[in-house]
Amino acid sequence: MSEPRRALVTGITGQDGSYLAEFLLERGYQVYGLVRRASSQRFERIEHLRERVELVTGDLLDQASLSRALTLSRPHEIYNLAAQSFVPTSWTEPVLTAEFSGVGVTRLLECMRQVCPEARFYQASTSEMFGKVREVPQRETTPLYPRSPYGVAKAYAHHITVNYRESYGLYCCSGILFNHESPRRGREFVTRKVSLAAAAIARGRQKGLAMGNLDARRDWGYACDYVDAMWRMLQQESPEDFVIATGEMHTVREVCEIAFSTLGLDWREHVTLDPALLRPAEVDQLVGDASKAREKLGWRPRTSFRELIELMARSDYEAAGSPRT
Ligand code: NAP
Ligand code: GDD
Repeated sequence: MSEPRRALVTGITGQDGSYLAEFLLERGYQVYGLVRRASSQRFERIEHLRERVELVTGDLLDQASLSRALTLSRPHEIYNLAAQSFVPTSWTEPVLTAEFSGVGVTRLLECMRQVCPEARFYQASTSEMFGKVREVPQRETTPLYPRSPYGVAKAYAHHITVNYRESYGLYCCSGILFNHESPRRGREFVTRKVSLAAAAIARGRQKGLAMGNLDARRDWGYACDYVDAMWRMLQQESPEDFVIATGEMHTVREVCEIAFSTLGLDWREHVTLDPALLRPAEVDQLVGDASKAREKLGWRPRTSFRELIELMARSDYEAAGSPRT
């Protein structure tokens, strides 16, 4: 019997890492996850997988730890999902964001080059790199114009991934993913912030919800659909970059409308505006053209925007339990 394929997932404790680990386990992979040491570990998203995945400690700031993780796991596939991924934090911690989300990728690529050059590498690139967009919709060839320190760090990471492919002939792909959400989304991101608040208000546990720019628009998809695309990129004959998106833009206002109405509420009675939540610079028309992924990977999104927001609101409502008396 041939040995199982091995995958190393950085960022396994995050939204995408947890879904990708499930996806790979279902396909018979032996899954290793890179985790950082913390004074109290938060493994909620992978609690149900703890017996089935191998956790290796390491940090994108520490090259020796990455080298050790690759030596231990001997991966056929590396998925680099770890990053400081919250855009507002990148203005308050710009250097750390550059270290994690930018230079950290070079550390990992350099280790791969030395330890396991035959492995295949996936880099979690982002639509945030398009920022002040140069064309609508955005494609793999659209020039980058990032508008946040996070976007700048990710643009560096994107180019270094391409550079290692071209300089050393490594199998490195960059997936340029547009926003994707789920019930496991971090609580500070807008869709989850809204679904959590709608659930808490419906349960009588919260009074109102302060929001930033309601006119902001994004191309929002479902995280479970998107991890499938990551895997498909590493199964191609030769490495290429792909945009992964739904091709539809919606506003934050629509997120509020759907989440609240799913739970029988009118969002206008609960949502207030807080200028402190506005960003120093916004990105205006992020919407992706995923035709290359459709044609070459056979990938397409399966979950609509409305279905996504409804399932998030229902999930948070269930988790919030019964109303207080
Ligand atoms: P997430 O939930 O914020 O997860 C980030 C992960 O990175 C966590 O597991 C975190 O570990 C880990 N991490 C952070 N800094 C690290 C470091 N220095 N060393 C090792 N691990 C570190 O992010 P996500 O939504 O799953 O996104 C996954 C990746 O895709 C990220 O790179 C993100 O930038 C990118 N991306 C996301 C989207 C999206 O819409 N979700 C779109 C495009 C691209 P802890 O648990 O220890 O904090
Ligand atoms: N977080 C948040 N909180 N965003 C708000 C709020 C609020 O109260 N009110 C309005 N917004 C708007 C933001 O101004 C932004 O335009 C939009 O909602 C989406 O914000 P986030 O959900 O925080 O996501 P993001 O688009 O900045 O970044 C996410 O997607 C990127 C892909 O484009 C992250 O997952 C990044 O890591 C990812 O690369």
